[in-house]
Amino acid sequence: MQAIGKVIKNLNLGKLGIESVKKEKCDVCNYGIKTTVIANGKEQISCKYCEDRKLVESLNIPTTREERALQKLMDKAQHFSQVPENLKGVKLNDYNAVTDTQKHAKQQAVEFITQFDKKMSLVLSGDPGIGKTHIAVAVANALAKKYAVLFLKSTNLLDLIKSSYNSDKYSEMDILELCRDVDLLVLDDLGAEYSKPGDSESWASDIIYKAIDSRLGKSLIITTNYSESLLEQKYGFNGKRITSRMSDNAEKIRIAGKDMRRG
Ligand SMILES: Nc1ncnc2c1ncn2[C@@H]1O[C@H](COP(=O)(O)OP(=O)(O)OP(=O)(O)O)[C@@H](O)[C@H]1O
Ligand SMILES: [Mg+2]
Ligand SMILES: [Zn+2]
Repeated sequence: MQAIGKVIKNLNLGKLGIESVKKEKCDVCNYGIKTTVIANGKEQISCKYCEDRKLVESLNIPTTREERALQKLMDKAQHFSQVPENLKGVKLNDYNAVTDTQKHAKQQAVEFITQFDKKMSLVLSGDPGIGKTHIAVAVANALAKKYAVLFLKSTNLLDLIKSSYNSDKYSEMDILELCRDVDLLVLDDLGAEYSKPGDSESWASDIIYKAIDSRLGKSLIITTNYSESLLEQKYGFNGKRITSRMSDNAEKIRIAGKDMRRG
């Protein structure tokens, strides 16, 4: 290979106004080759490596293996999440905390977001229309910008698993693994799904158990109309096993307030 300066001389690029070309290790990235071209009295500096990196940054393309894996998980979680249509854009700021328990729930939700450590959990229980799902969606939305967040009603989870039996796109294991692997799983309206009372080993309670069990040591948000003792009854054999795991590293808040659906 001839030195680039020599090539220019040979090609007589001087006629194009190129006076000199210098190549050296780039002092910005300390990795690529910096090319300095002086043409028509003007200096132009370029480093392919620096330019590629700027492009990657501007396009927000994940670069490391970890970033790519997280992006994949975030995409998958987003694909399967089923946030109720009427609550899609809600924020904690829109949540009007009136009662003490609502204030406490809002405060805990703010801390959940600002101090998110992928470990803590939140159980919001109480009567219909007091904003449990509202809070859960607001937290999920805030964290989904940076983390893999899966939001499902417990009925959605069971429907997904059922549909997986006839699907060639995903299996029961794919869904359960997604529940396990995301940074945050939100199980909305726990206990609202069909489960025969007293049917100690019902299919539904087995699935719910597996999903919640897989979250031990990881963040989980549950909303429910039921008290723990009612959930225990509902899930029969799995009852205590489910409520025990729900309590793992969890802030449990029984919210009282006005049913906002009634205006
Ligand atoms: N404190 C609140 N401030 C503002 N909006 C609220 C509040 N509580 C509830 N809402 C609104 O009322 C509607 C019902 O709230 P949400 O669905 O969160 O209730 P929920 O507690 O999850 O009820 P359910 O137990 O029936 O699932 C939503 O549109 C929600 O945005
Ligand atoms: Mg709800
Ligand atoms: Zn460079």
